[in-house]
Amino acid sequence: MNSYQNLSMSEQKAEYGAVRARFEAFKSRGLKLNIARGVPSKEQLDLSQRVLTDLTAPEDYFADGVDTRSYGLSDGLPCAKAFFAELASAPAENVIVGGNSSLNMMYDAVMRTMLFGIGGCEPLVKQGRLKWICVVPGYDRHFAICEQMGIEMVTVPMLADGPDMDAVEELVRDPQVKGIWCTPKYSNPDGTTYSDAVVRRMAGLKPAARDFRVYWDNAYCIHDVYGEGDRLAPIYPLAVEQGNPDLVLQFMSTSKISFPGAGVACLIAGPNDARDIRRLLAVQTICPDKTNQLRHVRYFRNAAFLKEHMKKHAEIVRPKFDAVLNALDAGLGGQDYVRWSRPKGGYFICLWVMPGTARRVVELAAEGGVTLTDAGATWPLHRDPDDSVIRIAPTRPEVAEIAAAAELLCVAVRLAALEKLMGQ
Ligand SMILES: Cc1ncc(COP(=O)(O)O)c(C=O)c1O
Repeated sequence: MNSYQNLSMSEQKAEYGAVRARFEAFKSRGLKLNIARGVPSKEQLDLSQRVLTDLTAPEDYFADGVDTRSYGLSDGLPCAKAFFAELASAPAENVIVGGNSSLNMMYDAVMRTMLFGIGGCEPLVKQGRLKWICVVPGYDRHFAICEQMGIEMVTVPMLADGPDMDAVEELVRDPQVKGIWCTPKYSNPDGTTYSDAVVRRMAGLKPAARDFRVYWDNAYCIHDVYGEGDRLAPIYPLAVEQGNPDLVLQFMSTSKISFPGAGVACLIAGPNDARDIRRLLAVQTICPDKTNQLRHVRYFRNAAFLKEHMKKHAEIVRPKFDAVLNALDAGLGGQDYVRWSRPKGGYFICLWVMPGTARRVVELAAEGGVTLTDAGATWPLHRDPDDSVIRIAPTRPEVAEIAAAAELLCVAVRLAALEKLMGQ
């Protein structure tokens, strides 16, 4: 193992000089790259262009006995419900199909629970102190919802096969704990996929609060990049089997399948929650954009077709993941103060740098022309207690750009580590 900690002061100084020189050389290249957010590349967006162009004649827009261009069906088009139901192994009658954003549906789900309650319970706003379980590292926008609504966030560590379920089971004994955010497949940012055992335990939770729900954000449900990818057990059948049909609220969208700005999202609830949500939704909207729902179903057809389509995405994304991983292997391999994830899919690679240096690494990378996700973003309230997690989102730029960005990142990681050790 090669470790900066084992170097003498003078060796550290010499190494610092060499790494600083490499950093300055990068700076002079005038890079201007952004690997901060999980956004598909133009090439990926182009894969689905026909979604927007295949349906042209007025009669193309008739489906399920309705003219999708008109009002009606506030919870979505039946064929779109069936489409998502197949993906989730859940009944179509539990599916509510909405607009383009699953995050929007998550926000609404929490907001509805705040205002109207869920499962016949008091609205959360009337219940005083509220807590939410946040698996860390996690998705910043989940945490932002809790932050905006004044919900206290309690962290649980992500282990190799999913959240620490001993900790989750302990926490849900507290009736003030009302939810948990989960990204069960290729979790954002570390790429972990929950094992069958973790999914089963999650589906079998016995929370003290009747209005506790598992918020199952399956944003990367079929986003395999390497081979067959990871397998995720469908949670709905496991929840039903363990007497918890209404425990889980699932979310999915086609944001990273077709278009983040013009896709289709859905919420899949248990039978009682779905009924209650439908009732509230009917007041909120007369209908979502059913024409877009239909365009998507006509183009993507079913899970089998979708799987083939996602292979085309994988062809584009894989060289980008490879570029990052190769650069990390070459630039940081053997350095024992740093490690990184090797996910089989999703949108992110996660890097754990020397504790106390993540902010500095992000700052140095920015100085060198590479924008990274803010350090701390993967923790509630932007507070990474170890200041060590960095999220890399390599999908949008060209392969050569990503390779250059990752190479600079490695130099920044080394420089920040040396600065820390030398007390600078
Ligand atoms: C875990 C996770 N959930 C949700 C979203 C956003 O989904 P949508 O575009 O459907 O709102 C993202 C986007 O990066 C994500 O990473």
